[in-house]
Amino acid sequence: MINYNKLNTIYKTNSFIEANLIKGMLDNFNIPNFIEKEAIGKIFGITVDGLGEIKIKVPYNYRWRALKILNIFSRRQKMKIFLDTANVSEIKEATNLGVIDGVTTNPTLIAKEKGSTLTEIVKEIVSIIDGPVSVEVVSIKADDMVEEAKKLHSMAPSNIVIKVPICEEGLKAIKRLSKEGIKTNCTLIFSVNQGILAIKAGATYVSPFVGRIDDIGWEGMDVVRDLVIFIENYGFSTQVIASSIRHPLHVTQAAILGAHVATIPFSVLQKMVKHPLTDSGIEKFLKDWEEFSRSSKSGTLLS
Ligand code: E4P
Repeated sequence: MINYNKLNTIYKTNSFIEANLIKGMLDNFNIPNFIEKEAIGKIFGITVDGLGEIKIKVPYNYRWRALKILNIFSRRQKMKIFLDTANVSEIKEATNLGVIDGVTTNPTLIAKEKGSTLTEIVKEIVSIIDGPVSVEVVSIKADDMVEEAKKLHSMAPSNIVIKVPICEEGLKAIKRLSKEGIKTNCTLIFSVNQGILAIKAGATYVSPFVGRIDDIGWEGMDVVRDLVIFIENYGFSTQVIASSIRHPLHVTQAAILGAHVATIPFSVLQKMVKHPLTDSGIEKFLKDWEEFSRSSKSGTLLS
């Protein structure tokens, strides 16, 4: 039964093209939907153009199905790969491969880069990578975390994401930072409930530590999977970063479970490229080519 008197807004956009795309998708799933143009304030079929906010509405009893479909749609973005390091040479090398979307650091990773200040390291990283760079606060109290976060954020406002550990003070800090438009990455997540609280507080990212959970005999990927489902069920915009990745299989599993990001050490990235059959395949191709070149008249490929 469709109740046309009770409509729920499920999406807002200023783009007519995007509104059309979403309408088409809802139509495909037989979900009744309507476009409301804020400036005009009337409900139309999708034939109106012009400026102003466009709201996509569905009948109240269709809202969950519609949100689910929208979530699937929004997930059409590619899984991102971040590099989990503060080492500038690794970041340069990995960036040259063309597959790195961002960087995550933590106090331990920064401490490995002896001889440089935090500011020097962060400034160099943001000069290499055009994407989010997570830098962690080391304060304990929410007020101090927020103050520290603002200083870190000011180094490169369009790149810096503030890593905040999950704890009561951390949640307060995340709430305040998100209200001020500063992106946060809630770190040291070991349970789904910790992730849920961070998402509710407004974290931009949550980082379940898969490897460290595996280390104590639990299944780290379960936390990734459940947080992805939680986000999809309720339409949150937080992204799950599969963290504490120890080997290539972790990356594959994270991708299959729908993690929005996997942050990986450089050594794991290098292992992901390798396959013994690729190595032996290249060797054989080169050997056969060499033999062919020696035996052929010209000895070159093109002539
Ligand atoms: C994530 O952001 C953390 O920096 C990192 O993944 C922790 O990994 P580890 O457990 O290998 O230290």
